[in-house]
Amino acid sequence: MLSSASLGGKEAGDARAIAARCQSLDALKAALEALEGISLKTTATNLVFADGNPEAPLMFIGEAPGREEDLRGLPFVGPSGQLLDRIIASIGRDRSSCYITNMIFWRPPGNREPTPQEMAACIPFVERHIALVRPEILVAVGNIAAKHLLGRSEGITRLRGKWGHYRRDGLDIPLIATFHPAGLLRNPLNKRYVWRDFLSIAEKLEALS
Ligand code: URA
Repeated sequence: MLSSASLGGKEAGDARAIAARCQSLDALKAALEALEGISLKTTATNLVFADGNPEAPLMFIGEAPGREEDLRGLPFVGPSGQLLDRIIASIGRDRSSCYITNMIFWRPPGNREPTPQEMAACIPFVERHIALVRPEILVAVGNIAAKHLLGRSEGITRLRGKWGHYRRDGLDIPLIATFHPAGLLRNPLNKRYVWRDFLSIAEKLEALS
């Protein structure tokens, strides 16, 4: 049984084996729904898997669902999600032309930061998610996604705005990190940096098309 409270080497290996067996997004979602021993599941209302178009070239990965997301079972539908939608619209896209998910599939109680054990429980599924979608471009939304997906220890202020790579499972996907919209709601001055990041994303999409 997988336990987010005690996810050690064997359990993490089990999570990876379960995720690796999933050959489709439906199978991955079903595996998460069936996963046992995840304490976040006992406090969450819904699994928050993904939204948008998995065939789209652009995949966003945020942190963890908040209250609205937990209630509706969809990522980024609360206040920060509405801002993310407006930012995505600034490059002429919407949820039908991008795909959105999170590093954590259930809401941490009270919106606290996910623990390392909760991250460890979800990461094999996040990585399989990326491998199944195979986007042309990945966008890490906020600190947690940026650090993990880039494999770096610096904070988002240093990591954002520079193109890097997501290299795992034989994939090499261009990745850019940007500030989280929840942070922008607290500190709107940072919107100018996000604007630059999204111009860079639009240029990269154009170059790849
Ligand atoms: N913040 C996130 O990182 N993800 C969501 O789905 C909502 C808020």
